[in-house]
Amino acid sequence: MGGRVVAVSLLAATSVYILHAVLLDEVPASYTRVRDRSGSVNGTSCSSPTTSETAGSPMTMSNTAGSTPKTTKTVGSSPSGFKTVGSTSSTTKTVGSTPSTSKIAGSQLTLGSSANTSTPARPVKKILFWNRFFNAGHYGFGVGRRPFVNMGCPIDSCYAVERTRPRVSTEDVDAIIFHGWDLRANASELNELSTSRQLHQRYVLFLLEAPGVYRSRLEDFPHFFNWTMTYRIDSDIYRPYGFFVPLNSSSAYVDVRKTFDVPWDVLHNITLAPAPSKRGLVAWFVSRCKTPSQRESYVKELGKYIKVNVYGKCGPLNCAGRMSEECYRMLDRKYKFYLSFENSLCRDYVTEKLFAVMQYRVVPIVYGGADYKTIAPPGSYIDTRDFASPKDLAEYLKRLDANPDEYNEYFRWKETYRVNRKPMSHAMCKLCEILNDPLQPPKSYASMQEWYSGLGVCHRASSH
Ligand SMILES: *[C@@H]1O[C@H](CO)[C@@H](O)[C@H](O)[C@H]1NC(C)=O
Ligand SMILES: *[C@@H]1O[C@H](CO)[C@@H](O)[C@H](O)[C@H]1NC(C)=O
Ligand SMILES: *[C@@H]1O[C@H](CO)[C@@H](O)[C@H](O)[C@H]1NC(C)=O
Ligand SMILES: *[C@@H]1O[C@H](CO)[C@@H](O)[C@H](O)[C@H]1NC(C)=O
Ligand SMILES: *[C@@H]1O[C@H](CO)[C@@H](O)[C@H](O)[C@H]1NC(C)=O
Ligand SMILES: *[C@@H]1O[C@H](CO)[C@@H](O)[C@H](O)[C@H]1NC(C)=O
Repeated sequence: MGGRVVAVSLLAATSVYILHAVLLDEVPASYTRVRDRSGSVNGTSCSSPTTSETAGSPMTMSNTAGSTPKTTKTVGSSPSGFKTVGSTSSTTKTVGSTPSTSKIAGSQLTLGSSANTSTPARPVKKILFWNRFFNAGHYGFGVGRRPFVNMGCPIDSCYAVERTRPRVSTEDVDAIIFHGWDLRANASELNELSTSRQLHQRYVLFLLEAPGVYRSRLEDFPHFFNWTMTYRIDSDIYRPYGFFVPLNSSSAYVDVRKTFDVPWDVLHNITLAPAPSKRGLVAWFVSRCKTPSQRESYVKELGKYIKVNVYGKCGPLNCAGRMSEECYRMLDRKYKFYLSFENSLCRDYVTEKLFAVMQYRVVPIVYGGADYKTIAPPGSYIDTRDFASPKDLAEYLKRLDANPDEYNEYFRWKETYRVNRKPMSHAMCKLCEILNDPLQPPKSYASMQEWYSGLGVCHRASSH
């Protein structure tokens, strides 16, 4: 046993250096500025509009539930979709011996102490980003091994690559991440997979859009995905748009699912400075005027009782840079409340509309399909569902406006938590961890639709 490990390490020793050079240093300067989907670069600003607002067909409140999964669509060369070939045993290729140094080595490579990490020697798992996530080839994470190490992943013996750079053989990777939004079952490039798929490989569905907005083609992928990485809490890898971290957390990495374990109010003894006096009340940044959630009609009604300042395509006001951090800072200076209204009312679907404002001293008013209690600290937001009507909500907001102490209570959570808006790194840590866990059972989804967009996942807006 020990002998084998040593042998493997020796075998790998020369390769490790090459790997190191290739993997840790292949990240060009521009990639070190991690661009997250929320539009934040390096945790700060970016002026691109939020992608969840750009795509869209009207919501088809999905009724695919109950229908049996379609397995008749032929994908690739085998009738059952993607054939799994090969065995789980690793290949014997080594990096050093192949002329193309960018070729990814087989899974016998081991990072020993020379890898400069505290993790014990274990095989490096290779993760391939198959397609792009909007403009981000690496999904806002980065490539190589360094992002795992920098992040402080508990298990960091993984590295990530994009498909084109370096040219990667799909047979040699342990996991492939597919951005579901862009996936086309008949694209010829996918045919490559139908013959190269290995039994041990995990195909991971990455998706951040709500079913009403995403034109699902998941039915074209029966028996294809092994794991899910989405905003749904019941994903194999939970990848929310943001999450909360206890202030006393000692490491950069926290388990995203365990956010509210820390007892309330025990961590810090901060006396909150009173919120600065602000003249504006309610603001809303919005670029999609008609939505499946019909948030627009709620806002219209609300506007009859309290002034709502609407910025963006659907209102009279403008903030240069649109959803940039600059605009949130403006919000912070001027407004007490922000409408964190989702475009779809779907299970767990909470976007940066909530997390972005929570970095500031602005109270989010939420309208969505999630159980917010599982997503944000208690007392940190106002839920429209707690009010019988927009009129009632307006009255409550006016009351808070007149009672600064009561209003300030909405920031008490900041004594205990801070918001984290870089969820991709945490998701990648999790993926790395479970890829390295030999006890993870084989798993595969016969069909995704029922889970993703079946009956009860989304609901219609009630009339206000
Ligand atoms: C971006 O990250 C770098 C490296 O961690 C840091 O030095 C820099 O201050 C960050 N920039 C901003 C604007 O936060
Ligand atoms: C990590 O590697 C660098 C460069 O090879 C070296 O200078 C440093 O001492 C190493 N650190 C540890 C903890 O091994
Ligand atoms: C492939 O997909 C495109 C776009 O969805 C479609 O127009 C085309 O008919 C499809 N081709 C086949 C062979 O299914
Ligand atoms: C943070 O505080 C909680 C509550 O006092 C405690 O249980 C936990 O161990 C602390 N965590 C760290 C990393 O100090
Ligand atoms: C909290 O702060 C108050 C006032 O500064 C102080 O009297 C009290 O002892 C502090 N409590 C704890 C648990 O540190
Ligand atoms: C992944 O899914 C494929 C296709 O359903 C399946 O053949 C394979 O056994 C699964 N692999 C793992 C490791 O779960």
